[in-house]
Amino acid sequence: MRKALVAGNWKMNGRAKVNGELVAQVLAGLDAQVDSDSVDVMVFPPSLYISQVKGLAGKEIGVGAQNLCEFADGAFTGELSAGMLSDAGCNAVLVGHSERRSMFGDSDARVAAKVKAALAADLTPVLCLGESLEQRDSGEALNVVAEQLRLATEDLTVEQIARLVFAYEPVWAIGTGRTATPEQAQEVHAYLRGQLQQVDAEVAAKARILYGGSCNPANAAELFAQADIDGGLIGGASLKANDFVAICQAAG
Ligand code: G3P
Repeated sequence: MRKALVAGNWKMNGRAKVNGELVAQVLAGLDAQVDSDSVDVMVFPPSLYISQVKGLAGKEIGVGAQNLCEFADGAFTGELSAGMLSDAGCNAVLVGHSERRSMFGDSDARVAAKVKAALAADLTPVLCLGESLEQRDSGEALNVVAEQLRLATEDLTVEQIARLVFAYEPVWAIGTGRTATPEQAQEVHAYLRGQLQQVDAEVAAKARILYGGSCNPANAAELFAQADIDGGLIGGASLKANDFVAICQAAG
């Protein structure tokens, strides 16, 4: 049985005061409404605020980074290495988010390199996969996410793949309010788990595959009720404490 995971991707949002209020409200809500034995909770603040949020989050909320440099420390102005993120207290890091793929040049090759860099620093890579609306409409969704998965993991050992968390985020559902139906999401999640079974049956059975894309308190329970959806990677709703806690409760 896989333990549910709900992760909040704050994207480029927040300020120190607002972050403190959000974390305090989420902690209070989790304490009152969510069984920590049934769901893991993480937040991914902007890198500038990782140390602040880590100091506030305690043991109840894991803290991750939204991106990393694929290179180790050195002459890479403006970048952050996996070692730095680990040193700052991160447990995990998003890799291959569609916004990084589409706006910041994260190719499949860079995504694969970033996964390796994260693993080398004992960070859990949260590997984001998803198709565009055009690819969905042309019936290519399964092929697209399978290829993204293959390219990101083809050089990894079974043991390394076992350390990944996966997030299916249909690009056309991100920030649009247009959520994948539970059936659409389950189809892709089951297909991804089938792809992992070709690597190793136990890895596939234990892999946590999150759904992301306009997940909210109204649709979370039906999505998380699907056999192969193990939680959510939440954007906008993670910035509202009550909504985020409600989603965590739906996953528990
Ligand atoms: O990484 C999660 C994010 O891409 C989903 O965003 O606002 O549609 O929940 P949102």
